[in-house]
Amino acid sequence: MESWLEKRWARPLYLAFVFCLALGLLQAIKLYLRRQRLLRELRHFPAPPTHWFYGHQKLLQDGKMEKLEEFVEKYPCAFPCWVGPFQAFFYVYDPDYAKTFLSRTDPKSKFLYKFLMPCLGKGLVSLDGPEWFQHRHLVTPAFSFNTLKSYVDVMTQSVNIMLGKWEEICGTRDTGVEVFEHISLMTLDILLKCAFSQETNCQINSNHDTYVKAMFDSSKITFYHLYSFLHHHDIIFKFSPEGHRLQEISEVLQQYAEKVIRDRKKSLKDIKNQDNAQKKNYPDFLDILLSAQAENCDSFSDTDLQSEVNTFILAGHDTTAGGISWLLYHLALNPEHQEKCRDEIRSILGDGSSITWDQLSEMSYTTMCIKESLRLAPPIQSISRELSKPITFPDGHSLPAGITVVLSIWGLHHNPAIWEEPKVFDPLRFSLENSDQRHSYSFLPFSAGPRDCIGQHFAMVELKVAIALILLHFKVTPDPTRPLIFLPQVILKPQNGVHLYLKKLSK
Ligand code: HEM
Repeated sequence: MESWLEKRWARPLYLAFVFCLALGLLQAIKLYLRRQRLLRELRHFPAPPTHWFYGHQKLLQDGKMEKLEEFVEKYPCAFPCWVGPFQAFFYVYDPDYAKTFLSRTDPKSKFLYKFLMPCLGKGLVSLDGPEWFQHRHLVTPAFSFNTLKSYVDVMTQSVNIMLGKWEEICGTRDTGVEVFEHISLMTLDILLKCAFSQETNCQINSNHDTYVKAMFDSSKITFYHLYSFLHHHDIIFKFSPEGHRLQEISEVLQQYAEKVIRDRKKSLKDIKNQDNAQKKNYPDFLDILLSAQAENCDSFSDTDLQSEVNTFILAGHDTTAGGISWLLYHLALNPEHQEKCRDEIRSILGDGSSITWDQLSEMSYTTMCIKESLRLAPPIQSISRELSKPITFPDGHSLPAGITVVLSIWGLHHNPAIWEEPKVFDPLRFSLENSDQRHSYSFLPFSAGPRDCIGQHFAMVELKVAIALILLHFKVTPDPTRPLIFLPQVILKPQNGVHLYLKKLSK
């Protein structure tokens, strides 16, 4: 009996074994050829010392910005960066390289965006080609200056809610506060109100904690996934604890987007609320998306709608939360600049009981400080594309199609070839005279070219309103025992929060 079984199964088992071996061998040859091709294509660019197996993965995962700055100083313009033995990105941080790269319309890197997709979906940030163009064209009116003007009051209200919380925490004493969480909730509140007319009261009630936590974790896991090449294989990642958590997160984010859309559709059906909607003096972002869908169901599906809602919440609140927090931290470290901003803001706004659009454009010193802070700590530290055709940089160096190019905004903003003493906070770099002589692609917190940040004016308005009101009401000083450490995830994050001392100013 045994020998019959053996006879019957021996041959298929043997064939299966040979088949698997051949498949494995083929895969190994493919990977080997891929490595050889990348080595050949990148041979003209010196790279920092690399581990034969991990490449530069450890360095990137540890998130040492100082290491990146060291490389920027040592390798002019660009360097190849290996993630494991078979994948390399080409890091650039030179203004001429950036200009050449950003003037083209290469698609987003398929490899990198594979990791972002579960959270972002196919929205403006991740789309390419005609579909991206259609969506960009569609949502642009939501960021017109007239619409932005009407957001100033909404932003003021939300910042005041946060200041109310701080007053309660601090009383009249100098009190240590972790401000990043407060600021994140405040920017979420602003975005939900401005883009979706959602009054969630999220700064006060904690119903949004799951959502906020999901967003925080999504960035952490995506970054981990990206730079851990052992997890690049879908199946390995899917069954890992991080893969499991990412699945949960993407469900939380999808459900939230669904709820925002459902609520609005419901309120539009409700005649009473419809009257309210008509009272709005501008169509918000969701109005624009819904009317696009009503006009053109075929090219704008429910899934498109959900992806755009998700994209705007993710792209539009974490970035500004970082921007405001880093600025506050830099002003705490540099009290002379904080005082100058406060004097300017007082002279324009008085006690700040109301803020107008025109007043915001008068804050020239404060704007220079905002820019200097965005230079030192750009909320999006890098962007990437996959070359659809060969590229030649102004110095004659070329790369073939297929290479993933990463523009390191952090590297560009800390490049000593452009910025004298790049680590020093010096707002006067952005005075008219000093900016005039600089390359126009030296400072790119919002990127540039056809795919620049659609929300950049919204963000600048929000940063000005927030910093003006905060400085009018509080003096900020650093907590020397808890310096800010950056975690370079998809969006720059603080490793242990942003700890500052706040002191209420008397009127
Ligand atoms: C300080 C705040 C912000 C910074 C530093 C920032 C930075 C950026 C950068 C660097 C890009 C280019 C990404 C790439 O090419 O891969 C981008 C794109 C984008 N940003 Fe922002 N952003 C900010 C605020 C906002 C806000 C408030 C919104 C929306 C309300 C927004 C929505 C978007 C969208 C939708 C895109 C994709 C545009 C496209 O590809 O057509 N951002 N942002």
